[in-house]
Amino acid sequence: MKREDFLKSIIGASAFLSLPFSSYSRDGEGIVQMLEDSAKSTRGSLFGFRTDSIEKVRVGIIGLGNRGNTLLEMFQWLVENDHAEIVGLCDLVETKVQKVTEKLSQWQKSVPATYSGNKDEWKKLAQQDNVDLLLIVTPWELHAPMCIYGMNQGKHVASEVPIAYSLKDCWTLVETAEKTQRHCIMLENCCYNEEELFVLNMIENGVFGDITHTEGAYLHDLRAHMLSSDYYQDQWRLKHHIERDGNFYTTHGLGPISFYLNIGRGDTYSHLTSMSSRELNLSETAKKVNSDYTSFKCGDMNSTMIKTELGKTILLQFDVHTGRPYSRINKVVGTKAVHDGYPSRLYVDNGELIYWGHNWLKEEEYQQYKSKYQHPLIAKLKTISKNFKQGHGGMDFVMIYRLIRCLNLGLPLDINVYDSVMWSAITPLSELSVASKSFPMPFPDFTGGKWQGKKDLEIMKMLDVTDK
Ligand SMILES: NC(=O)c1ccc[n+]([C@@H]2O[C@H](COP(=O)([O-])OP(=O)(O)OC[C@H]3O[C@@H](n4cnc5c(N)ncnc54)[C@H](O)[C@@H]3O)[C@@H](O)[C@H]2O)c1
Repeated sequence: MKREDFLKSIIGASAFLSLPFSSYSRDGEGIVQMLEDSAKSTRGSLFGFRTDSIEKVRVGIIGLGNRGNTLLEMFQWLVENDHAEIVGLCDLVETKVQKVTEKLSQWQKSVPATYSGNKDEWKKLAQQDNVDLLLIVTPWELHAPMCIYGMNQGKHVASEVPIAYSLKDCWTLVETAEKTQRHCIMLENCCYNEEELFVLNMIENGVFGDITHTEGAYLHDLRAHMLSSDYYQDQWRLKHHIERDGNFYTTHGLGPISFYLNIGRGDTYSHLTSMSSRELNLSETAKKVNSDYTSFKCGDMNSTMIKTELGKTILLQFDVHTGRPYSRINKVVGTKAVHDGYPSRLYVDNGELIYWGHNWLKEEEYQQYKSKYQHPLIAKLKTISKNFKQGHGGMDFVMIYRLIRCLNLGLPLDINVYDSVMWSAITPLSELSVASKSFPMPFPDFTGGKWQGKKDLEIMKMLDVTDK
């Protein structure tokens, strides 16, 4: 859908429901921006984008909280093998910088520049001459501004998820990446998990036939972390649940699914509709633990349905309020096979009527598929580093390894700026839909029409490297 049509359609929805646009402060701006921008735009120029190879990638990390610490550890093998060097560290809190500097000194000889103490110190790291890549691991609202500033300083940027949560920021990220010709990648680690890569490899090899439907989710009981006064810096994550309602954390489920469905590479999201349940679990727990915050707008369970241009459907769920086992669902339904995650199960239609649709594969048959379709990257990395099993069971190392080695070799990155913003833009659109009784929201085209035409996924191309 063209931008003007998208705008008209949203304005139509808001007029129909008597919802003033200005009530969506962030996205009201985003849509106006979209109109203003419609005259420019040669978007879509960064598919397959590569830059000169960088022999040793010099990295600056902004945000050294829970996640920043984990990501730093993923660099040990890359630093020890001269593929990367950490040249700068920044956090608001000085003691966090000191702790990470100390940790780094156990496996890197050179000492990074350090920055802390006020909320704008990170700009000095973004300006530091010897930084090739900025890793942004801060609270959500800082991801887009830090990426945009970093690219304008000539740095490649890699942001934690989501890279943005307003449409305006999504557009600005694409424009800035295209203008500055810098890589802008969202670090969606679940795209690198062994199970998701196994499913992707089966899809690419035709095991599923044609896909009709998928389901993904972020179902993770975060009440203890969000309500704790010292887990997230200044309880930033809980605060989003006070004023907003929708799916705030789309990308762990949607990233791998978008790879499965060739989103941006022959198909794209057409529209979505979103609905949230009432909120009970977080507020009840908050009262029990005497939290300063006890009233939340975000429903316990958000369900968003997305339809693609080629007619496939995606059910995406989000619930971080309810006590239950973790799940990303990871369901894929095709004409020849079905996969369900948590735990991983596979049904393959063998064409014999008697078996149709009734049983998951037996363990032995499942293991045969698992070994036949293990992604080659996983097979290789299992042998190269003890880091392989670290960071969410391995996927964090695979992701950082792949990012750095692609930059070393001047290869396109697996997740480009269009993927990054498309997977993230579902958040503001889900909020708009929830706020308007699940009114369907059309999806803007961030790719300038370049989503059309089949393109191979970079992650399915073998790395031209000889790492032992
Ligand atoms: N991909 C994953 O599996 C995964 C897992 C956990 C967290 N995350 C993401 O990582 C990000 C960080 O989450 P976290 O759990 O580490 O939160 P956190 O609160 O532990 O860490 C955030 C850090 O950013 C720092 N910070 C805040 N403002 C800053 C500023 N202006 N300049 C410099 N530093 C600043 C804080 O001091 C804090 O140390 C979030 O975007 C979250 O969604 C991703």
